Amino acid sequence: MPLPNTDVMPDTRHTTPTPPPGFGHPPADDLLLPVDELPESPSSPDLICRRVRDELMLDGNARLNLATFVTTWMEPQARQLMAETAEKNLADRAEYPQITAMEERCVRMLARLWHAPSPERVRGCSTTGSSEAAMLGGLALKRRWAARRRAQGKDTARPNLVMGANVQVCWKKFANYFDVEPRYVPMEPGRYHLTADTLTAYCDDNTIGVVTILGSTFDGSYEPVADICMALDGYQAATGTDIPVHVDGASGALVAPFLDPGLMWDFQLERVASINTSGHKYGHVFPGLGWALWRDAEALPDDLVFEVDYLGGRSPSFTLNFSRPGAHVVAQYYSFLRYGFEGMRELAAQSRTTARALASRIAAIAPYELVTDGSELPAFAFRLAPGTRGLTVFDVSHAMRARGWHLPAYTFPAPCHDVSVLRLVVRTGFTADLARMFITDLTEVTRQLHTERPVPAPVSEPVMAG
Ligand SMILES: Cc1ncc(COP(=O)(O)O)c(C=O)c1O
Repeated sequence: MPLPNTDVMPDTRHTTPTPPPGFGHPPADDLLLPVDELPESPSSPDLICRRVRDELMLDGNARLNLATFVTTWMEPQARQLMAETAEKNLADRAEYPQITAMEERCVRMLARLWHAPSPERVRGCSTTGSSEAAMLGGLALKRRWAARRRAQGKDTARPNLVMGANVQVCWKKFANYFDVEPRYVPMEPGRYHLTADTLTAYCDDNTIGVVTILGSTFDGSYEPVADICMALDGYQAATGTDIPVHVDGASGALVAPFLDPGLMWDFQLERVASINTSGHKYGHVFPGLGWALWRDAEALPDDLVFEVDYLGGRSPSFTLNFSRPGAHVVAQYYSFLRYGFEGMRELAAQSRTTARALASRIAAIAPYELVTDGSELPAFAFRLAPGTRGLTVFDVSHAMRARGWHLPAYTFPAPCHDVSVLRLVVRTGFTADLARMFITDLTEVTRQLHTERPVPAPVSEPVMAG
């Protein structure tokens, strides 16, 4: 299948407007405009457009942003469709029944992709991203747990949610906003995500669910969803407590189905009640789109779904927002139809191949060593070999920024806060040419940092007082 040549992406944002900048307007005009209060009178659209565009040039270049999982490249046809539907509000379902139909078709496609035993029984919706989807997934878990407790004549005062310390901040927000105690299973040296061995020690009768991540934002690794479900099967056999699992597949739920068909992580596992993904990550849609799916009506209690009467239509609604852009759903529908299974597989495979090649090149540059190698999500983390002196990952990140690359550096949570890494995400649009330039720059930046900051003479170990 002919896939897009991302090297020839038309990027209209930085094109020179016609007439030439400033032509016909005395420069002082521009300077007089206020920037933090509403101007008294209108200005020419061209003047303001240029002004806004010029200011935006100071922002980073999205395709050099190696920090984000979010789509930074779409085909011109998809951009065009988004522009043509920019004014359509997803909430006006009676007015735009076809966008609603596209949303439902996307939900069915995802249900099949994630092996729902009865795709027609799956309940699902689009969201603004995985964060909103996580709130909805968490709310459903909490409501189910409360109903179960009430039926047993028990209190519902202290719900908790069990997850790895590596969860994305959206789960911390969910716990905070919806009064659920977050129980974080800590990382250990060499184990940087949730695994099956330690998790049941954090579960009890008040556990509304376990969140497992495909894959971890910290290092791109997949959590072992099947093993985690098996551990919870054992817990249920021992205690009688049935704890559902929500899979946060923000990135991986649109990577694993194409590249890891043998991996058990989705609705094939009976314990998996719900799954979220970001259409705006490996779903190839610009930022603003997520998906949340529940196995069946039992997993998404009816009392969370509103029947909304609006503008002559009645439709079920389970979202935190009301008005939302319809254009993102249109773009998702386009990308699913345009690429199909084989195209999605090929795009994900290209990203993973590039990530693995970059990881192995970086592993060969002293003093770096890999934490992960890009063989799960097309993303990996690397750090400075123990004992490296004279530079930190933060220095490297800073120096790469000066070359235009956004290569984030961060520290893992306690008790692994001695681990600081750089993380690199590969997405469609990160071409082989960009990868080559990145390696050249990283090699040079590392050499310069070493040269500018000569390694200090080894300090002798302090002698412990006897
Ligand atoms: C595992 C995971 N969950 C949730 C999110 C939040 O996703 P969104 O940006 O779509 O709200 C992210 C973002 O990177 C993520 O990696």
